Amino acid sequence: MADTKNATLTFGDKSLNLPILKPTLGPDVVDIRKLYADGDLFTFDPGFTSTAACESSITYIDGDKGELLYRGYPIEQLANKSSYLEVCYLLLYGDLPNAAQLEDFNNRVTRHTMVHEQLHYFFRGFRRDSHPMATMVGVVGAMSAFYHDSLDINDPWQREVAAIRLIAKLPTIAAMAYKYSLGQPFVYPKNSLDYASNFLHMCFAVPCEEYVVQPALSKAMDRIMMLHADHEQNASTSTVRLAGSSGANPFACIAAGIACLWGPAHGGANQAALEQLREIGSVDRIPEFIRQAKDKSSGIRLMGFGHRVYKNYDPRAKVMKESADEVLDLMGIHNNPTLQVAKELERIALEDEYFVAKKLYPNVDFYSGIILEAMGFPTSMFTPIFAISRAVGWIAQWKEMIADPTLKIGRPRQLYIGPAQRDYVEIKGR
Ligand code: ACO
Repeated sequence: MADTKNATLTFGDKSLNLPILKPTLGPDVVDIRKLYADGDLFTFDPGFTSTAACESSITYIDGDKGELLYRGYPIEQLANKSSYLEVCYLLLYGDLPNAAQLEDFNNRVTRHTMVHEQLHYFFRGFRRDSHPMATMVGVVGAMSAFYHDSLDINDPWQREVAAIRLIAKLPTIAAMAYKYSLGQPFVYPKNSLDYASNFLHMCFAVPCEEYVVQPALSKAMDRIMMLHADHEQNASTSTVRLAGSSGANPFACIAAGIACLWGPAHGGANQAALEQLREIGSVDRIPEFIRQAKDKSSGIRLMGFGHRVYKNYDPRAKVMKESADEVLDLMGIHNNPTLQVAKELERIALEDEYFVAKKLYPNVDFYSGIILEAMGFPTSMFTPIFAISRAVGWIAQWKEMIADPTLKIGRPRQLYIGPAQRDYVEIKGR
């Protein structure tokens, strides 16, 4: 039962009034913070399908409409008119920068792109065939051993320095992980290049010849970064928040976020999606694959499809699909079989009763791999590129949480279903 201000929960002979909180957008939220103290009850919501774990003013998703807003701005407008560093500023500070603010922010990020020289040696401890995400989890976690002057989370200036360092150095670290896997020398960042071009240069340049970044590819990379920059309380962001709620340093928290992102149900889906499209290989094999994806006992899901929040077309996937056509055209790749399979798979799935009834639509990962592959990246680099792009969202959410004076350590409760208390039995009696 709910009026506009309170919900009433009645159980046994008790009745509790639970305040209803009003968001700017989205469904009302029942405040159950006093439920345990006043009612001796927990709520049960594995997977947090109906639980708001925090207040936030950064990103809003309307899953039914297929709408994504960063600080109120629609993702489509940002993807067409803005740039990744401008979006970073928006996410971190709440408003779009003016020209002077953007230049200052650009300079600050650009001047932090190099990593401590000693960090180079850290890479050598990894096998050359390590997945770059494994290397990134380790190296980003190790940053807390190198940047002691930005570890005090109670000092707003140190938080700011850590934020800039992470945004600036993650592309360098991801590119180093890639170069290390190839056995090629690391390429130092180049301050004359913009953020996306600098990343492409660090990945694809070699010391023995000049590498010129194609502006159109750098624009496409910048757009991929914008589309991935934040996505409210997804699994990796919630991981960063939970890690940070204990007072852990920002580098450790972002390393935790990277570890969570790696899973195939989350950021790892971009690699899995492209591998699946390649495995299907040709349009005539789609019906058989769709049959398997609908059969739970096959253990196969259509990767890059479905989303916890979107029950409509993911707006990021729409932009990504357009970008895929543009990039492949630019690279002179015509009739790409993977893109053909993807488009036909999407067409068939969107007409299939199973996918329609479950409201499963392409998500951001469905087309991103096709673009990254055309740019020359191996599939193992897809999730690291997601991590670079999402770092700003993790940091903005972490900063928002730390600055909140009501911050509490995140500590869920449980529905215990193990044995009740029993007495220890000596080994000979068991
Ligand atoms: N292929 C086939 N069936 C699917 C798919 C899929 N991709 N996704 C969901 N379903 C089915 C489930 O089997 C389930 O069926 P049921 O109701 O009969 O049991 C129903 O749809 C709901 O699925 P859940 O797994 O309960 O939904 P949830 O919200 O927990 O999961 C998730 C969302 C993890 C994204 C899921 O859709 C999935 O596994 N997709 C494939 C992986 C993927 O693309 N992940 C990227 C997500 S976006 C991102 O992180 C950037």
